[in-house]
Amino acid sequence: MKQDITRGRFITLEGGEGAGKSTALDYLCARLEQAGIRVLRTREPGGTAVGEKVRTLLLDPDHSGMHADTELLLMFAARAQHLHEVILPALEHGEWVICDRFTDATYAYQGGGRGIDVRRIGLLEDWVQQGLQPDTTLLFDLPVAQGLERAGQRGALDRFEQEQQDFFTRVRDAYLARAAQYPERFRIVDAGRELEAVQQQLIVIIDGWLEEARCSPG
Ligand code: TMP
Repeated sequence: MKQDITRGRFITLEGGEGAGKSTALDYLCARLEQAGIRVLRTREPGGTAVGEKVRTLLLDPDHSGMHADTELLLMFAARAQHLHEVILPALEHGEWVICDRFTDATYAYQGGGRGIDVRRIGLLEDWVQQGLQPDTTLLFDLPVAQGLERAGQRGALDRFEQEQQDFFTRVRDAYLARAAQYPERFRIVDAGRELEAVQQQLIVIIDGWLEEARCSPG
């Protein structure tokens, strides 16, 4: 999957539970659209009819016996459909794809959280993505206890939200390790701060993208 300069940008948002990604996504998409950018907002697991059904299976608290390998394979099954049906065509048409979670979530949740060997995740990543990576990944980072408290206020918990605090500590650590491993791709947003302060951080990032887009050909 080639990444040429005329294609749209692929931006992913990541973070633990209660990090405020949805609010940030609304803000981000609105600001880019105001600047005249064609934006496609999507999410994982999900983003296609097939993927949304897989999401329902994955999040259903009734499936507490789901094996970690099954969970991993379902994530990538939904991702394959999402890439071929939605993400790649949109990028080729010059749209900016803003995706709520992508493969870094797999490294964090299935790798860090469930303890699956990252080499297995890497094999599936190579197979399904064939080299495609996000251009930028925003990691909404906040202390685990603060995130869980926010998420707990939303009502019924899904299969992941029902995990214990140590699971989410491993998830957070794995995300931060990914960010340290790929500093050129990741931007860390301090999501523990109040809404306005988070938006200020986003404005700086978005303005940087718009500046780059103005300077680059295509
Ligand atoms: P969401 O609630 O942010 O939409 O994400 C759904 C859940 O799916 C969330 O708890 C994280 C989890 N997830 C994984 O475990 N692995 C993945 O690869 C993705 C994309 C999400």
